[in-house]
Amino acid sequence: RRVVKVGLLGLGTVGSGVVKMLRQNSEELAQKCGYEIEIQRILVRDLDKKRGVEVDRALLTRDVRDILDDANIQVVIEVMGGEGETRDIVLESLLSGKHVITANKDLIALHGAHLHHAADSQNVELLYEAAVAGAIPIVRVLKQSFAGDNVREVMGIVNGTTNYILSKMTQENASYEDALREAQALGYAEADPHADVSGLDAARKMAILASISMRQAVPLADVKLQGIEGVTSEDVAEAKALGQVIKLIGRARREGDSIEVSVSPMRLPEEHPLAKVNDSFNAVYVYADALGEAMLYGRGAGEMPTASAVVGDLHAVLRGRKFAAGQLELIARWA
Ligand code: NDP
Ligand code: HSE
Repeated sequence: RRVVKVGLLGLGTVGSGVVKMLRQNSEELAQKCGYEIEIQRILVRDLDKKRGVEVDRALLTRDVRDILDDANIQVVIEVMGGEGETRDIVLESLLSGKHVITANKDLIALHGAHLHHAADSQNVELLYEAAVAGAIPIVRVLKQSFAGDNVREVMGIVNGTTNYILSKMTQENASYEDALREAQALGYAEADPHADVSGLDAARKMAILASISMRQAVPLADVKLQGIEGVTSEDVAEAKALGQVIKLIGRARREGDSIEVSVSPMRLPEEHPLAKVNDSFNAVYVYADALGEAMLYGRGAGEMPTASAVVGDLHAVLRGRKFAAGQLELIARWA
C-alpha cells in the first residue's frame, strides 16, 4: 500500500485527538482510503510541553518550513488556530499543491473565499468540516446533499462552550464563571474564551454556513452579534420559572436579495427541540424549498468529536478525484 505523508499544524486538544484517531483506526482507514497515513512532522510552539498523547519527539518541530518545504508532505492538517500567520501558512500550503484540512472557523470566516480560490488554482482540496459544529457533518451536507435545493434559513446552536455554560446554569444552578472554567478544562473553549462567550465564534460559524448554503459570501463584519456575557443566574431562573430556556441561537435568513445573519441569546419554550440540546451538543436546522426542514444534532466541540470531523475530511481528500489526479502527476514527474 502507498503511504501518504501528512503535516500536522498543532498538537493541542484537536491535534491530539487526530493523532489518537489515526493510530486507533490506522488499518481500517488504510483499507478504506487505499493509503497508509503517516504523520511526517508536527508543528508546535513548545517542544517540551506535556501532551495529551505521546508522540516521538523527533516528529515535533517549531519551524513551519519543515512542513512547507517537505515535498513528500501531500496533506496539511491545520489545528493550531489563529488567522494571520496561519492564513499565510495555509495559503502557501495550497499554492504549493498540498491539500489542506482545517478546523479553523476564524480563518475560513475571514479568508475562506481567497483560500478557496488558491485551492482551485492548484486543483487541491480545502476542507473544513470540523470548523462548524464539531462532529456534525453540516458543511458537507450544505455543500453537497442540499446543493440542489434553495436554502432559505439555517438556524441553531453552533457553540459548544456557551451551550455548556447555559446548560449548567439552567440544570445545576452553576455559576457562569464555574461553568466557563469547566468548559475550558474539557477542551471546548477557544484559546481565548472571549471568542466563545462574546458570540464571535458562533458568528464565524454562521457566516460560513450562510455563505456556503446561500451561495453568497457573507462577511463576518455583517453578522449582528450578542454573546452570553450579560446573561445572569437571575435571567436563567426567571426564564425557567416561565417554562423557558435561554440558548445562544445563530440564524441566517435570506431576506429578498440580502442575507441576514445574527447570533444572540434567546428564550425558547422548554418543549422546543433546541431547548433540549444540552452540554456541549450543537444542533442546526436547515429550511429549504424542496426539503422542508431538517435538523442535525451532535457533539459540537471537544477532542474526539472534532477529530472525527477532521479525519473524515482526510478520508474525503484521499478518496477524492483531486488527490488521485495529484498522484498521477507525481508518477508522471518521476517517470
Ligand atoms: P489548542 O490551543 O489546544 O492547540 C493549539 C495547538 O497549536 C498547540 O499544540 C500549539 O502549540 C499549536 N500552536 C498554536 N499556535 C502556534 C504557532 N504560532 N506556532 C506553532 N504552534 C502553534 O487549540 P485546539 O486544539 O482547541 O483548537 C485548534 C483549532 O481547532 C482552533 O482553530 C479551534 O478554533 C478549532 N476547533 C477547536 C475545537 C475544540 O473543541 N477545541 C472544536 C472545533 C474546532 P503548543 O502546544 O506547543 O502550545
Ligand atoms: N470553542 C468552540 C465551541 C469549539 O465551543 O463550540 C468548537 O468549534
